[in-house]
Amino acid sequence: MSNPKVAVIGTGYVGSVTASCLALLGHQVCGFDSDATRADQLAAGQLPFYEPGLAELLRETLASGNLRFTDDPRQALEDVDVVFLCVGTPTGAGGNPDLAQLASAAWTLAPYLRDGTVVVNKSTVPVGSADWVRTLLEEALPRNAAPAFHVVSNPEFLREGSAIEDFLYPDRIVLGGDGDGVGPVAALYVPIVTQAFPRARTEVVPQLITTDLASAEMIKYAANAFLAMKISFANEVANLCELVGADARQVLPAIGADRRIGTAFLSAGVGWGGSCFGKDVTALIATGHDYGYSPDLLRASIEVNKLQRAVVIRKLQRELKILKGRRVAILGLSFKPGTDDLRDAPAIDVAHRLIAAGAVVSAYDPIVKQLPPDLAGVRIASDPYDAAHRANAVVLITEWPEFTGLEPARLAGAMSGDLLLDGRNVLPDAEFRAAGLRVLGVGW
Ligand code: UDX
Repeated sequence: MSNPKVAVIGTGYVGSVTASCLALLGHQVCGFDSDATRADQLAAGQLPFYEPGLAELLRETLASGNLRFTDDPRQALEDVDVVFLCVGTPTGAGGNPDLAQLASAAWTLAPYLRDGTVVVNKSTVPVGSADWVRTLLEEALPRNAAPAFHVVSNPEFLREGSAIEDFLYPDRIVLGGDGDGVGPVAALYVPIVTQAFPRARTEVVPQLITTDLASAEMIKYAANAFLAMKISFANEVANLCELVGADARQVLPAIGADRRIGTAFLSAGVGWGGSCFGKDVTALIATGHDYGYSPDLLRASIEVNKLQRAVVIRKLQRELKILKGRRVAILGLSFKPGTDDLRDAPAIDVAHRLIAAGAVVSAYDPIVKQLPPDLAGVRIASDPYDAAHRANAVVLITEWPEFTGLEPARLAGAMSGDLLLDGRNVLPDAEFRAAGLRVLGVGW
């Protein structure tokens, strides 16, 4: 199939990254979104969310003529060869993902299916969903139509804040499905596998992993569940270190030096957040229950993570005795640096708990300048020192790079108290102690 016509249904985070990157590789791509405003915004090169480098890539690929956006299904899907489904699958009842958007995408697509059309599922869906997508499409087909189309699972492993990097320079690309379907999709990824495109890196050698549908879907969940579990393990070890007088900042890198373990995703702190880990681990647990199996290890990963947020409050209570009327400054609101995303962000949880305890909360984040209405009581500060103004305690929650440049004396001078809680173990504690602050961390 030379010069295939590619469409991407759903232009949220995963869809807009996928469409722009495939266009950068030289493919003709049309992004479709039933939300006309979003389709128009993207067609004008505007992004409704923050992701480093994506706005520039969007404008570059629009200008190249390889990328278009539309809310007209005919324009995007007529004579299409390969269609990526990139719609949202938020957590639904009982922890199972809500597949309503996937169903509506299938209904939009069905009339345009032909023999050989390849439908690629990139949305995170419970194991077994690709067959479900096929059933949906067949249901939606006109009575007399029976095109021989293919369904392929192609899970994404994009991290917010480095999505373009993760798409263009992946460790692996996973394709699940029958050979006739997998072939055309693998062909689209050849420039990445061989690193033959404008921004290629010779040192990157992605693996192309082809497998069956169910295994491809499980790979996505298992990968996220493992990362979440690894972080929860690091936090559990950190909590134990505090009890026995060891230092997790020494212990974790030392165990990570073992290549079987690895240091990545082994940083203790206030726990993980974001739109994926919690959702995917919960979905995997729900899948287990559907089969009468109890995935206790996965459940424990979630419990340990919840505990880490409570650990922050417990430390503040222990040091400040009472929280009622105390001023506490939070540094960092987004669930991690490099994004403006507040979904399941630890800082939001901690802010709620502080307010519930009667504390007066201020917060500073380099890019998040607004909080949800139920946190209207939190004062958004213009910089870290403004946040720390007359604070009894300062808590670092998101490890934005600029916080490692904080001036200890200036911070201490702004505060009325002397308590600094480094929830990510990133600050040079000795320097802050020298400035007269009591410094606490996680795991030491
Ligand atoms: C994650 C997966 O990494 C990605 O492959 C998948 O496609 C989507 O979900 P993302 O949610 O963007 O990506 O964030 P990630 O960088 O994985 O961080 C998740 C959370 O873990 C953040 O809250 C981060 O602060 C926390 N984290 C990460 C730790 O607490 N310790 C670590 O060592 C690493």
